[in-house]
Amino acid sequence: MNDKEFRNLGHKVVDLLADYLEGIENKRVFPDVEPRTVNALFSGPLPRDPASPDEVLSELEAKLLPYCTNVGHPGYMGLITPSPNPVGVIGDFICSAINQNIGVYSIGPSAVAMERQVVRWLTDLCGYDQKAGGNLTSGGMMANFVGLKVGRDAASQNKAQYEGVQGHGAVYVSEERHVSVDKAVDCIGLGRNALRALPTNDRFQVRLDALEDAIAQDKKNGIRPVCIVGVFGTTNTGAMDDLHALRRIADREGMWLHVDAAYGGGMLLSHEWPVHDRGLELADSITIDPHKWFYAPLDAGAVLVRDERRLTASFGMKPSYLTDEFDIENERYQYYVHGFEQSRRFRSLKVWMSFTRYGADQIGQWIDHNVRQAKHLYSLVAHDPEFESASVPPMSAICIRFTGTGLGEADSMALHAAVAQRVEQSGQFWISTTELKGKAYFRINPVNFRTRQGHMDDLFALLRQECHEYSRA
Ligand SMILES: Cc1ncc(COP(=O)(O)O)c(C=O)c1O
Repeated sequence: MNDKEFRNLGHKVVDLLADYLEGIENKRVFPDVEPRTVNALFSGPLPRDPASPDEVLSELEAKLLPYCTNVGHPGYMGLITPSPNPVGVIGDFICSAINQNIGVYSIGPSAVAMERQVVRWLTDLCGYDQKAGGNLTSGGMMANFVGLKVGRDAASQNKAQYEGVQGHGAVYVSEERHVSVDKAVDCIGLGRNALRALPTNDRFQVRLDALEDAIAQDKKNGIRPVCIVGVFGTTNTGAMDDLHALRRIADREGMWLHVDAAYGGGMLLSHEWPVHDRGLELADSITIDPHKWFYAPLDAGAVLVRDERRLTASFGMKPSYLTDEFDIENERYQYYVHGFEQSRRFRSLKVWMSFTRYGADQIGQWIDHNVRQAKHLYSLVAHDPEFESASVPPMSAICIRFTGTGLGEADSMALHAAVAQRVEQSGQFWISTTELKGKAYFRINPVNFRTRQGHMDDLFALLRQECHEYSRA
């Protein structure tokens, strides 16, 4: 491809995407297509002969774009993937063009400096001081893994990195945790059975009495308490654990406190519902994902550590081929000795561009709109005797359920699953279902700057109609 072709194709792509974004509200949220049909579109062999740029683009227009889930549509309120802000989209385009490798300073001096600035913005937002550091990651899954690995190493006085895990240890977290915590506990060598999934109170916060009991029981059985994972915004209902209490318990037991704010971290920008007194800064490490509620396109997660030296203690290895011989003053920041990944995408660019273009205040307003929408849906439900909410939404996530026909729980699960499928088929909205304390719910979460309050009215009307129709059938 020569320079002229690149320029022509680039202009066409920008026009195509501008049209796509302009018309996104008129599209279906989820495509009306069978899996076998989309699979058949992408079943050809490896192409041996070249195609022209126009042919490649036409193929994308025919096969890819019509069958996307349009997460930027205002009716997308499902699994936490935001409407990507357009400046962030451009950021990713630039990122690939310059292909800076954030792992090492020598493949991106200015990019590494920008990444460090974005990490600093995030650590400042969380209330950490200058000693803090962190990494942008592929997402919350990887960030929780890094947080727990750093915590395991700290709790072992830096022995586990060398000797592996000795004896049995345990990690404590609420039953409302994200599954990434289970995977992380496995990956750091403790094993999934070392996870103590603790019951929650009626606001879905971890119960402190259950935490104390579990710790006491483990100690009695010779199992070492290693880490508490607090949740700052659960995936289902946005619940925030009592981090002040978790900190006190972690200190008393010599445990690491990791806090998963992958989703809830967005609330740090809220103007109307400030969360700065919730103690996030008390965590030893934090997961916070710009690609969730800062509306950055995938991927951009982040793990932050209160003491940056912990990252080096866990990951600071220098193979001969990566040592930067020229760094007399030791000013060349090498991410590969401060994190797990080496070659990695310049994720901070789109985050930097988003904050710079919109400002944190504007992003905070989008967040407040989303919270207001959840609270509006809550009030609609509160006035309808056939529906109930799991809790008052502290964030944008809200779980509601149909109780109209007094079904048994197995039938209720079937109803909620079937109705969510009908909502998908309507093309107007996409929501998911979940289970809370053994009961089925619709799980609705606008992390979307295009969603307006009226969408909540329309969604609720559709849910009522579909629940009644299903019950009648
Ligand atoms: C609370 C929480 N933690 C972690 C994750 C995992 O994040 P990711 O999907 O970015 O890996 C999620 C995803 O929704 C989440 O809600």
